[in-house]
Amino acid sequence: MHDLDHIQAETDAALAAASDLRAWDAIRVGVLGKSGRLTALLKELGRATSDERRERGAALNRLKGSLTASFEARRIALDEAALDARLASERLDVTLPPSPEPPGLIHPISRTMEEMAAIFGAMGFTVGEGLDVQTDWFNFAALNIPAHHPARADQDTFYLPGERDGRPLLLRTQTSDVQIISMLSQTPPLRVIAPGRTYRADHDATHSPMFHQCEGIAIDRGLTLGHLKGCLTDFLRTFFGLAALPVRFRSSYFPFTEPSMEVDIGWNRRTGDIGGGGDWLEILGSGMVHPRVLANCGIDPWEWQGFAFGMGVERVTMLKHGIPDLRPFYESDMRWLRHYGFNPLAPVSLHEGIGA
Ligand code: DAH
Repeated sequence: MHDLDHIQAETDAALAAASDLRAWDAIRVGVLGKSGRLTALLKELGRATSDERRERGAALNRLKGSLTASFEARRIALDEAALDARLASERLDVTLPPSPEPPGLIHPISRTMEEMAAIFGAMGFTVGEGLDVQTDWFNFAALNIPAHHPARADQDTFYLPGERDGRPLLLRTQTSDVQIISMLSQTPPLRVIAPGRTYRADHDATHSPMFHQCEGIAIDRGLTLGHLKGCLTDFLRTFFGLAALPVRFRSSYFPFTEPSMEVDIGWNRRTGDIGGGGDWLEILGSGMVHPRVLANCGIDPWEWQGFAFGMGVERVTMLKHGIPDLRPFYESDMRWLRHYGFNPLAPVSLHEGIGA
């Protein structure tokens, strides 16, 4: 048995000396790997007599168990040490006074929302705000999405305990509540956009449970689909800074608009370039405000018409700036922000985009 004790002792000594996971793994391969020391002994077992095999086999199995335990314990210790080292090296003393370096930067989400406000502002829209904690009436019912409507199931809603005005509370799943708020609080004609936070119980590489949308609504006499198309085409061409950006309106369905249209822009699926390329990318939902939604807000649909639209702020930001991953938006990593952030002293203008 002497040789087996030896393997255990030597492995323990090597593990104690291993300073990182790479060294740890090299030792593991040397002992437990395909041509490792223990594996070789196990293979030899085949040549032993059956009596020898019983005794030796049991001893080798005990050794395997204790070696595995040694490796696991050391791996955990090295993992913890690596995390401690990372935490120490990335430590920030938030009590220190701010220094001129690094300068504060505007987060790309904030920047996009400022750009939207500038572009729609030039078309006469004001900026409104909804409520993150909203009732199901504003988020659904007033928007022509009654209880049990399938559109409610499409949006995995976070319901909250309690109620307001006798209606269940939830985290709004869309900024469309601002359509209702605007129509109830203003008399038409009105034009409002509302960038803000929205929430859905969805979390993976391309979905975050909290994300941002920008809603828009215009109510006036004699508004038509032509106004909607002109407004959104202008917005998209200005936002992306591409005067000839192809824009396509595709018939679709939303409960609160009739007719409804999804809006696509031209891009190249292979290179990811916005503009040419012959492929289409969906970017917006829109439509003429449903007469029932107008009526829900006390507006006479025979006198007033409206159009509305909504888009994902992260999505257009990722497309405009070539940001490949959604998750870093919410990680507050200074390295990412230094790369994608914006100079706070450079105000948005209507003359920038990916073409600029
Ligand atoms: N609220 C929709 C969503 O979250 C987007 C949307 C579509 C908004 C059509 C609108 C609209 O105002 O008219 O998917």
